[in-house]
Amino acid sequence: MTIKKMKTQAKRITVIGLGNMGAAIARLYLNKGYRVTVWNRSAEKAVAMQAEGAEIAGSPEAAVAASPVTIICVHNYSASNDALRHTAVEAVLNGKTLIQLSTGSPQDARDAENWLARFGAAYLDGAIQVAPEQMAQPDTTILLSGREETFQAQAELLAVLGGGNTYLGNNIGAAAAMDLATLSYVYGAYLGFLQGVLFVDSEQLDLDVYGKTVARMSASFGQFLQHQGKAIARQQFEVTQSPMSISLEAIDRIVDAAKTAGLHAALPELIAGLLHKATAAGYGNEELAALIKVLR
Ligand SMILES: NC(=O)c1ccc[n+]([C@@H]2O[C@H](COP(=O)([O-])OP(=O)(O)OC[C@H]3O[C@@H](n4cnc5c(N)ncnc54)[C@H](OP(=O)(O)O)[C@@H]3O)[C@@H](O)[C@H]2O)c1
Repeated sequence: MTIKKMKTQAKRITVIGLGNMGAAIARLYLNKGYRVTVWNRSAEKAVAMQAEGAEIAGSPEAAVAASPVTIICVHNYSASNDALRHTAVEAVLNGKTLIQLSTGSPQDARDAENWLARFGAAYLDGAIQVAPEQMAQPDTTILLSGREETFQAQAELLAVLGGGNTYLGNNIGAAAAMDLATLSYVYGAYLGFLQGVLFVDSEQLDLDVYGKTVARMSASFGQFLQHQGKAIARQQFEVTQSPMSISLEAIDRIVDAAKTAGLHAALPELIAGLLHKATAAGYGNEELAALIKVLR
């Protein structure tokens, strides 16, 4: 296939799933002048997208057949399987590329890659790290995994969705695994934030000021986390700034203060339990990152 022909084909794209995220994706391609074919389980969302310039496919197989590349962005992998795993779709997959932007697990991604390989289709698995209104920004991050040649072939098309696309390698499960990792961080940090709300409330302080203070310290906390990640990767737990014993004192203080004020204390108690275990194992004078040895 000539480069010119490839470029002409790349101007056509299919988007399956027109929920909040799928509709945002379809709109981005329409705005960039792509010929966009859409399919959605509930037809009314596709009809609304037709008014914006999209072409409606009557079935998932017609949608996949219409373009060299299909992006699917539905509720989850189970929904994706409901839409795609039919013999009629399998019959049109040969030579196509499917980009999965529905959230799933590494095993979901592996199953999908194996299924698509049986029918001659290339596959990328992706995990979107932002909300629909944050798409197509210079720092919009989508984690992607799959065969490198497939990623390179679709890099330009994917750049329409944002400037922070991050290719994680051939392991098709990588994007989903990294998504689980970043979400674990988000929910852990979020619960810590809510614990802080309890303390702020207990002294009738201003929650806006609390939010601003947390936002201000987040950039340097990010740098601290990067440093911790490197320490864990290199198994270098010698103290560089503050030993785990300081965090042990801090978390015990949080537990005591929460109990004294009659606040919910399950989260700090959980953290204190882990830090005491690490200290008992002899890591008290190591970098806080040594806590990973208890979790592992
Ligand atoms: N929204 C976000 O902030 C955000 C951020 C990052 C990642 N994501 C991911 O993006 C994906 C889509 O999210 P969304 O916000 O667009 O969700 P949504 O607004 O709830 O839309 C869900 C979509 O899935 C379709 N669907 C659900 N079950 C189906 C089934 N059994 N068969 C076929 N289609 C089915 C729905 O079709 P109907 O219209 O017929 O119901 C709809 O198109 C999810 O995996 C989500 O985790 C979303």
